[in-house]
Amino acid sequence: MADYVNEIKRRRTFAIISHPDAGKTTLTEKLLLYGGAILQAGSVKGKKANKHAVSDWMEIEKQRGISVTSSVLQFEYNDFCINILDTPGHQDFSEDTYRTLMAADSAVMVIDASKGVEAQTKKLFKVCLLRKIPIFTFINKMDRAAMDPFKLLEHIEAELGISTYAMNWPIGSGKEFKGVYERDHKRIIAFHGGDHGMKAAEVTEGSLEDDTFRSILGDHFFEQLREDSELLDIASTEFDEAAIAKGELTPVFFGSALTNFGVEPFLSHFLNMTTSPLPREASVGEIDPFDEHFSAFVFKIQANMNKAHRDRIAFMRICSGKFEKGMEVLHVQQGKKIRLAQPQQFMAQDREIVEEAYPGDVIGVFDPGIFAIGDTLCDASYKFEFKKIPTFAPEHFARVTQKDTMKRKQFTKGITQIAQEGAIQVFQQIDTGMEEIIVGGVGVLQFDVLEQRLQSEYNVEIKLEILPYQCVRWIDDQTLDPHTLNLTSDTKRLKDLKGKNLLLFMNNWGIKWATEQNKSLSLSEFGNME
Ligand code: G4P
Repeated sequence: MADYVNEIKRRRTFAIISHPDAGKTTLTEKLLLYGGAILQAGSVKGKKANKHAVSDWMEIEKQRGISVTSSVLQFEYNDFCINILDTPGHQDFSEDTYRTLMAADSAVMVIDASKGVEAQTKKLFKVCLLRKIPIFTFINKMDRAAMDPFKLLEHIEAELGISTYAMNWPIGSGKEFKGVYERDHKRIIAFHGGDHGMKAAEVTEGSLEDDTFRSILGDHFFEQLREDSELLDIASTEFDEAAIAKGELTPVFFGSALTNFGVEPFLSHFLNMTTSPLPREASVGEIDPFDEHFSAFVFKIQANMNKAHRDRIAFMRICSGKFEKGMEVLHVQQGKKIRLAQPQQFMAQDREIVEEAYPGDVIGVFDPGIFAIGDTLCDASYKFEFKKIPTFAPEHFARVTQKDTMKRKQFTKGITQIAQEGAIQVFQQIDTGMEEIIVGGVGVLQFDVLEQRLQSEYNVEIKLEILPYQCVRWIDDQTLDPHTLNLTSDTKRLKDLKGKNLLLFMNNWGIKWATEQNKSLSLSEFGNME
């Protein structure tokens, strides 16, 4: 029992959110370096080298027992067991990216010091906000020309509407990035070495009162730091643990993932400040992770992970109880008991089988087509359902028709199944009924996946016509007749697969117009929250 409690307490399950190129991959690699999971980081100069770094992990994982899946990276650091959930960006950006945040207990937001808050970070941030999870900010690339740190904090607050608290303060930037000042310990950490990011950075530590730092940092930086520190103490928001826990205040750290400067101070503070697995809302109230009855929910389904077999893997986050290979659980939505049995059906990664896992961990199970996003698995003696995973408003839309009209049945079946899996969203125009199918995705790659899967799994060829719409919103009051609304001529009235009414807009201006013209209308970016 004590072991069970300790296993949960030492777990840290988080996602790293960022805009492409802000440094998520580099920071992840450096966390592994500091965690002792790898001895030398692959040079992250150049995308090719990055790939090399990833393949290094695979080798290392075999030696050290780190498990890498496309969904989670698990490793040990001091006494912590860390699960970093992958939030695919770039081309792979899709609803999975959002759903993964549903499985995280906290988030690390990486921001490029010269660019500030960027579009994708903003979108991911909104989802974190919805869950009220703690968000820690790492301002990266301080070794390059950076915005003024005070301005950066103001900018984050203005763009995201979250308060900030600087945990440490940068000493210089660009080539003159000399260290950070830790406000809680009133300690200067001056950086040296790091072997251009290959090895952990060396540091000299001391107090702001210690005049030897005048020569280490130089007069100018030393004086500047004293001034900044005074100003911060006067002007800064108060440190408030409760506000951090609710995601209302973000602790901010400055550093450079590439040179390793500031990575270790960030990691040790973050792991101590962030939360162990959190309780989850369910039909019977909150489910405590320390409850010994097993429970988990499915947050991602990945088709065709292995090209040789047509397989699907359902990824689930364990919320309570200990998972043991072969255990029998109740699949609540199907009302059936299933055995999480044949070992080869489990994957921590391609070649490893999970023997046991704890709340906070993610396991992947072979899916013969029985799982859907949001499904609950639990101990049969204690049945309940976890709160549903919301549907996120797509930003890309296309009209889909099948090329061979004789294949209507396969087409409808295929597109419905793929939508139920959560790979794409399907809408119908209210007036035209089934005749016109509009699909929506958070990322454009989702359309390619749809096209390929319909062809290979259902033998249906489709024509995809990209539509110029950008936003869709669910109508909050579903008793409201969409035809009574005063809308611009280019706004479409739709319903989703569950029959919920939505509006499709060309742009944000259309949304504004609709809500101004129709006082009773309120719209939501997230669907199916009940
Ligand atoms: P991502 O996963 O968020 O997309 O970012 P990634 O870590 O791949 O980093 C993007 C680029 O930024 C990489 O350059 C990486 O070396 C660089 N980078 C990451 N952290 C830092 C940092 O702290 N300082 C500096 N100066 N650079 C950093 P790259 O692979 O060479 O590609 P590119 O520069 O040609 O785009």
